[in-house]
Amino acid sequence: MAVITFCNRKGGTGKTTTSVHVAGGIARRGMKALLVDIDPQAHATLWLARERAGQGGGSIVDFLRINEAESQRLDKVIVETSIEGLWLLPSDKGAAEMEVTYGKRSGAAHMLKNALSSEQDRFHYIIIDTPPYIGLLMTMGLLTADYAYITMPLQFLAIDGLKDMMLLVKKISQKANSGLSIGGIIPVMFNARLMSVNRHLNRLKEEFGQDFILPYIRQNVRLSEAAEAGRLVFDFAPQSHGARDYERLIDRIIKDTSE
Ligand SMILES: Nc1ncnc2c1ncn2[C@@H]1O[C@H](COP(=O)(O)OP(=O)(O)OP(=O)(O)O)[C@@H](O)[C@H]1O
Ligand SMILES: [Mg+2]
Repeated sequence: MAVITFCNRKGGTGKTTTSVHVAGGIARRGMKALLVDIDPQAHATLWLARERAGQGGGSIVDFLRINEAESQRLDKVIVETSIEGLWLLPSDKGAAEMEVTYGKRSGAAHMLKNALSSEQDRFHYIIIDTPPYIGLLMTMGLLTADYAYITMPLQFLAIDGLKDMMLLVKKISQKANSGLSIGGIIPVMFNARLMSVNRHLNRLKEEFGQDFILPYIRQNVRLSEAAEAGRLVFDFAPQSHGARDYERLIDRIIKDTSE
């Protein structure tokens, strides 16, 4: 069992698209995956369980609350999706209040790890989709994970924020979760025709080493369309760049996390 989180403190950097496809793609390969949505925007929830989003029908907030009291009701919060082998722990906008309610409580950041410990044996992979800012929720994700991958478009401003993310992951792995390692950078919305993109790619490879940069995900409108349709690109547009690139990325992630 491996716990993976996709993170970046910048918004719109492909975290949700990658979380949904890696979790869904792993399930399509016959393994059991749980996607944990801890972003109050609840985009992964909207994607995979639209009827659940905004309905207050049980979410990560209840999961953590329930877990403090009665662990036997945990199953009520985790929902099965229409993709065989993929389960979802939904989020809702109430998760934003957790920053305030629990933020100052000692040990609060460990709540997710503790809560999930009873679920771990049920899944081959747990994938955590995080919000685009550094706070209690992202810290919870990093405290729970074995591998953190940073998803980002290769643009100057995104690269500027990369150092902060790397420092945060390093700090958490040194101080609070020795089992955490940085899996690497996943370039998303990749457009090889742009000179600047190739320049940034080469610079990142020089700075961090070839292995640290995972297979890129090309810019592909099919990925946004699949989100709108509430489907995975693998079945929505199997011949698209989006489908092929995510398959290649999953091969690599499975290889890295099985070593
Ligand atoms: N490879 C891609 N090609 C084209 N569009 C993409 C690609 N990846 C993601 N998108 C689109 O870009 C937008 C942002 O992607 P996504 O929601 O995955 O990012 P995010 O990092 O989760 O955002 P947030 O920080 O708001 O949670 C979405 O509209 C998504 O459909
Ligand atoms: Mg998102």
